[in-house]
Amino acid sequence: MRWTEGRTEISFDAGSFPAKVGGVDVENPVWLAPLAGITIPPVRSFFRQLGAGLVHTEMVSCAGLVHGSRKTFSMLRTADGERPVVLQLFAADAETLLEGARMALDRSSFEALGINMACPMPKVTRRGAGSGLLERPGIAAAMVKALVPLGLPVWAKIRKPPMTSPMDTLTFSGMLLEAGASHVCIHGRQPSQKYGGMADSSVVLEAARAFPGRIAASGDIFTPGDAKRMLDGGCSAVFVARGAFRDPFLIPAILEGCGFTVDPGHLADSPGSRIDLMISLGERILSEEGEKAAIVLLKRFLSGIFRGLYGASRFRQAVSRSSSWGEMRAALEEWKASPERGEQCDRREASRRDRSSGG
Ligand SMILES: Cc1cc2nc3c(=O)[nH]c(=O)nc-3n(C[C@H](O)[C@H](O)[C@H](O)COP(=O)(O)O)c2cc1C
Repeated sequence: MRWTEGRTEISFDAGSFPAKVGGVDVENPVWLAPLAGITIPPVRSFFRQLGAGLVHTEMVSCAGLVHGSRKTFSMLRTADGERPVVLQLFAADAETLLEGARMALDRSSFEALGINMACPMPKVTRRGAGSGLLERPGIAAAMVKALVPLGLPVWAKIRKPPMTSPMDTLTFSGMLLEAGASHVCIHGRQPSQKYGGMADSSVVLEAARAFPGRIAASGDIFTPGDAKRMLDGGCSAVFVARGAFRDPFLIPAILEGCGFTVDPGHLADSPGSRIDLMISLGERILSEEGEKAAIVLLKRFLSGIFRGLYGASRFRQAVSRSSSWGEMRAALEEWKASPERGEQCDRREASRRDRSSGG
């Protein structure tokens, strides 16, 4: 990253990578966010293959680990080729967090430990965990301090604190860094917003300027321009979340837009190679997690894909109707064999053609 002395303008420079960010060696600052129910090992490996500089696990309950939940332990599995991977944990108090973290590290290894201080779901906040911690800064700081002696970098993911919190975004982030966190990701929505409205990027950029190299941005990263704006503004990384469902190839597009070298087979003008990648993702989820997971996850990743290409909406409908991996795979192969599928067309023309062909 290049800093222009005396000014607050910062412009992103891909040449400064690979680099250590938050104590972790990364190839680039475009990362896959933690996504419950989604960032399982085959999905994380897929996004690493597409170039994501780092991936996160789903959030893992420390209470679940402490109580010996088999399902929770199964979330600690990692796959070859997915490193660096950050284990994201959640708990309502420092003791449970520490015990859970120790148990997790006995099973698997990770490049950093992340603490979830962002989840707004009542089943998590009810006990004071997730975004509930934004109202309990003393406990949040104690959690960071509890994990530091384990020897891995400690990261936190927060939201913009609500009005009822004793601290604003800047003060809360500074407090976590002071307590020993190596890195803080800020999602610029308050917990009550859940995923609605717009993320407030100005508070994230303000914190990034105040704590250079230690603040990542989450929230509304849907285009290469969204990511570039946050990196140019001084964020150490961007977390790609729902953008990866709308377009699973968003990460390579961002990387290309930021000046990184990208495999041409991952870019928009290689739909055939992209289809092969989606098939191999489906096959891998099928073999590791079973057919239901393969269908549910692939439907999510394919629901917005290939927009702007002739026949794409017909393809997506075939995918959404599929009730087995075999049907879904056939829809992918049919789309790959379609003579029209590589052609770009404007949106109106694409939907007119799809309608007239019954799609
Ligand atoms: C389905 C789903 C699951 C999520 N799971 C987690 C999670 O486990 N841990 C976490 O810190 N954030 C989680 N998030 C929040 C995202 O990481 C991200 O901060 C949020 O979606 C804002 O980014 P976006 O506007 O680019 O989607 C989840 C979001 C969604 C939509």
